[in-house]
Amino acid sequence: MCAEAAQPGAVLPNQPEASKTDPGDSIVGSLSEPRLVYFSSATENTARFVKRLGVPAQRIPLRPKDGFLSVDYDYILVVPTYGGGNLGGAVPKQVIKFLNNETNRNHCKGVISAGNTNFGKAYCIAGDIVSKKVGVPHLYKFELLGTPEDVSRVQEGLKRFWSTI
Ligand SMILES: Cc1cc2nc3c(=O)[nH]c(=O)nc-3n(C[C@H](O)[C@H](O)[C@H](O)COP(=O)(O)O)c2cc1C
Repeated sequence: MCAEAAQPGAVLPNQPEASKTDPGDSIVGSLSEPRLVYFSSATENTARFVKRLGVPAQRIPLRPKDGFLSVDYDYILVVPTYGGGNLGGAVPKQVIKFLNNETNRNHCKGVISAGNTNFGKAYCIAGDIVSKKVGVPHLYKFELLGTPEDVSRVQEGLKRFWSTI
């Protein structure tokens, strides 16, 4: 299991703190608190990580037939990597479709990525790709379900980052 900052000087902190366990998947919350939009496949690793954060979150539908998510508020995107070691396909198609919508894209303020270190240099590259395309910081990388330390760091870092946007 590897927990690492996305880049030198990454925005999220390295100091863990006590974790919260409120369930995610709710958009109830004030505009002054961080909000997430996330994608997760049927294996639901990312969904479980997001739930452990206890931050208001909305899920991008798994399949096109499940509908389209439109958001009218600022959020941080949480995206798993799916390229099988390649750039092509690294960002899930449903996430690309979501970000191709200008309003959705404009409200994206940062990206957190998930992956598996077995993919070496392609670890969490979905976050790098979204960061470049949308022009937002790649805030954090976590592996698979994430560790308790990842949960604490992201909770704390989200609060800090949110106060700067
Ligand atoms: C087909 C496939 C391709 C993947 N490709 C990558 C990759 O290129 N880089 C990476 O870091 N992780 C890769 N992963 C690992 C996933 O990002 C990781 O399992 C993630 O936790 C999946 O999240 P989800 O269960 O929420 O969909 C891949 C996983 C699968 C099944």
